[in-house]
Amino acid sequence: MHQAKGESRAKIILIGEHAVVYGQPAIALPIKSIKLQVTVTPTQDHQQKIRSTFYRGLLADAQPPFTGLTKLISRLLVFFSAESQGFTLTIESALPAERGMGSSAACAIAIIRAFYAAFDTSLDRATLLNWAAVSEKAIHGNPSGLDAATTSADRPQWFIRGEAPKAIHFPSRGVLVIADTGEMGQTGAAVGHVADLLRRDHARFQPLIESIGLASRKAAVALAQDDLAALGKQLNTAQAALSQLGVSAPALDRLIQAAAAAGALGAKLTGSGQGGCMIALAQDSTSAATIAQALQRAGAAATWQYDFSESEAIS
Ligand code: PMV
Repeated sequence: MHQAKGESRAKIILIGEHAVVYGQPAIALPIKSIKLQVTVTPTQDHQQKIRSTFYRGLLADAQPPFTGLTKLISRLLVFFSAESQGFTLTIESALPAERGMGSSAACAIAIIRAFYAAFDTSLDRATLLNWAAVSEKAIHGNPSGLDAATTSADRPQWFIRGEAPKAIHFPSRGVLVIADTGEMGQTGAAVGHVADLLRRDHARFQPLIESIGLASRKAAVALAQDDLAALGKQLNTAQAALSQLGVSAPALDRLIQAAAAAGALGAKLTGSGQGGCMIALAQDSTSAATIAQALQRAGAAATWQYDFSESEAIS
C-alpha cells in the first residue's frame, strides 16, 4: 500500500427522487465545482484513523452515520488482504452533509477510488458502484444507487435502478440555482416515510410515484429538445407529487415560492427532502442572479449556480 487519493463530486437530482427507489427513471447531475477528496496514508503503527470535519479518531470507534463507511473500509481491507494495515484516511469535503447533495455516496466513491489507487488496482464503473452499495445500504436501507452513480460521473445521468446509468444530453442554455434551506434532511427517514405510505395505502400513493416517473420521462424529452419552459413545468409537477408524499417541508416550500415569484421556470426540492436543498430553473444567468437574490432574501443558508453549458465539460 502507498499513499493515494480518490475524488468525487456533489450531485443534484434534477428530477425523479423517491420514485427512483421504486423503479422509475431519474435524472441527476454531478456538480464538478463542489468536490470531495480522500487521501489514504499508510502508517507503521497498525492504527486505522479517520480525519474529517465530522469525525476524528479510530475507525473502530466511529458512530452512525460513519458506520456505513466503516463497514465499507473493513470490506475493502479484507479484499486487499490488508486487515492489519495502519493508515490515516483524510476526507476533505466541500459538500454540506445531509442536504441532498450526495455527501455519503461521494465519501464512499472517493474512499473506494483511494484504496484501489493505494493498491495499484484498476477499477471499472460497475465494480465501483457495487462497492458503494455496501455503505449506502448500511446508511439508507434501500438506496436506488442514483447518488453513487452521479457522484462518480462527469456528465448528467439518466438512471433506472438495476440498469447501467447513461449520460444524458443537456441544453447549452439554462441555469439551475441551488439553495440550501440550512435544515438537515434525513435520507433514511424520508425514504422510510414514503415506504410506509405505500405499504399503508398503495392505491392512493403509487399513482404519485408513477406521476414522478412520467415527469422524468417528459423532462428527458424537454432536455433533448432544448425546451426549458417544458422542463420547468415537469419540475413543478414532480414537486407537487413530492409534496403530496410528505417529503417537502415549510422551509423548502418558502424557497420554492420565492423562486417562482422571482421568475423561475420551475422549482422543486432535490434529494430526499424534509429539509436539505431545493433547485430552481432559470432561463439565463441574469434571471439566475435575480432568483438567487430572492432565495437569499427568503432565508436560504447558501446558494450555488449550475450553468447547463458545464454539463458537457469533462474535468
Ligand atoms: O438525499 P440524498 O442526496 O441522499 O438523495 C436521496 C435520493 C432518494 O431518491 C430519495 C433515495 C435514493 O436512494 O435514490
